[in-house]
Amino acid sequence: MRIVSVVGTRPQLIKAAALQPALRRDHEEIFVDTGQHYDNAMAGAFFAELGLAEPDHSLGIGGGGHGDQTGRMLIALEPLLRAATPDAVVVYGDTNSTLAGALAAAKLGIPVAHIEAGLRSFDRRMPEELNRVVADHLSSWLFAPTPAAVDNLTAEGITAGVVEVGDLMLDLAARVSAEVRGPAVLAALASRLNLPIATGGFLFATVHRAENRSLEAMTAWTALLGAVAAPDRPVVLALHPGTRAALDAAQIVLPPNVIVIEPQGYRTSLALQLHAAAVLTDSGGVQRESAWLGVPCLVLRTTTEWVETVGGPDSSAVLVGLDVSAAVRELDSRAPRDSSGRQATDRAANLRLVSAGAPERIASVLASTAPRVTVGA
Ligand code: UD1
Ligand code: UDP
Repeated sequence: MRIVSVVGTRPQLIKAAALQPALRRDHEEIFVDTGQHYDNAMAGAFFAELGLAEPDHSLGIGGGGHGDQTGRMLIALEPLLRAATPDAVVVYGDTNSTLAGALAAAKLGIPVAHIEAGLRSFDRRMPEELNRVVADHLSSWLFAPTPAAVDNLTAEGITAGVVEVGDLMLDLAARVSAEVRGPAVLAALASRLNLPIATGGFLFATVHRAENRSLEAMTAWTALLGAVAAPDRPVVLALHPGTRAALDAAQIVLPPNVIVIEPQGYRTSLALQLHAAAVLTDSGGVQRESAWLGVPCLVLRTTTEWVETVGGPDSSAVLVGLDVSAAVRELDSRAPRDSSGRQATDRAANLRLVSAGAPERIASVLASTAPRVTVGA
C-alpha cells in the first residue's frame, strides 16, 4: 500500500517513531510533517534521537489560531494528497494536524486510518475532543488503544473498521526502557542540566493544555507546584514553549523550588519520570508513561480520556485538577517523603516493559483489510 502519514506535533513524532519501522516493512510511506511544532526541542531533535526518516514534505505551518492553523494545513495537504494518490492516510492522536489530515483525505475519497481512535474525555471544551470525534467519524480504520476506546466507538455507532491494537507508545517506551533505568542515567542528566536532584528526591512536571493557559488556571497551577515543592524535593518543570509564552505574557513568576527546564528529549523525559518521586502533568502521553513506569501521577485536569490509569487507590494516576489540598494529600499518600527514594530506586531497578505489539498489528491490518467505507469525491 502507498500510505501518507501526517504528523506535526511532539507526541505525533514520538508515535510515528514507534510505527515507522513496522509500517515501512510492509508499505510505501510518504511522510508529511505539518510543522505545527517547529522549535528544535519540540520537533527537530526527535528525528535524530528516535531515528525518524526525514519528512518527504515539510509544510512549515507553525502556530496560530485553530481556524487559521487548521485551514493552512488543509490548503497545503489537499494538492499534496491529490498528487501522491495514496491508498490510505494515517493520522495520529488528536491535534489540529490530525484533524486536517483526516479531513483533507476524506474529502478526496482517500481512506483514513486513525491511530488512538475512540478516546473520549467527554469534554467538548477541549480542542482535542473535537479533533478526536471528527477524525473517528471520518476514518475507515480505527486503531483503538484500549477496550474503553472500543466501547466509546460502539456507543457512537462505529463498529466496522475498529481494531483494538494496544498502545503504540508502549512499544517505544519498551524499546528504550533499558537505556533509562540505571541510576547513572539520572546522575548524568542532573549534571548535564545542572539540577540538584537524586533518585526519588524530586517531582517531575509538565503543563501545556489550552485550559491551563488562562490567567486563572496559571495562577492556580503555579501555586499548586509551589505548595508541593520543597528545597529537598524540588519540582522540575519541563516547560512547553506555548505555556512559557503564556506565563511571560501574564507576568507570572514561578514560586521557589520550582525549577524550569527546556522541553527535553524522549529518553530524558522517560528518565525524569522514572526516577522522580511522582509526576504532575496534564499531558496524555506522560500520564500513560507514568502508568507503565509505575510512578505516581497527579493529573492536573478534571477529566481524562485514559480512564484505565485513574480510578482507585491502587491506580497509578489520580485526577487532582488544580486543587492544592488534593495534590498535597495524594502526594502524601502515594509518594511519602520518607519512602520515595527507596520506591524510585526499586521501580527503576525492576523496570521491564514489554511492547503490546501495536505497530506490527497496525501495519498488518492495513495490508490485509479493506477500508470500511469509501467517502468523499
Ligand atoms: C498541541 C495540541 C495538543 C497536544 C500538544 C502536544 C492542538 C489543538 N493541540 O498543543 O493536543 O497535546 O500539541 O504538545 O493541536 N509553540 C512554540 N514552539 C513550538 C510549538 C508551539 O513556541 O515548537 C508555541 C506557539 O506560541 C504556539 C503555541 O505554542 O502558538 C501553541 O502551539 P500549538 O501547536 O498550537 O498547540 P499546543 O499547545 O502545542
Ligand atoms: N515529552 C518529551 N519531552 C518533554 C516532555 C514530554 O519528550 O519535555 C514526551 C513524553 O515523554 C511523551 C510525549 O512527549 O512521550 C507527550 O507529549 P505531550 O505532552 O507534548 O502531548 P500529549 O501527550 O499531551 O498530547
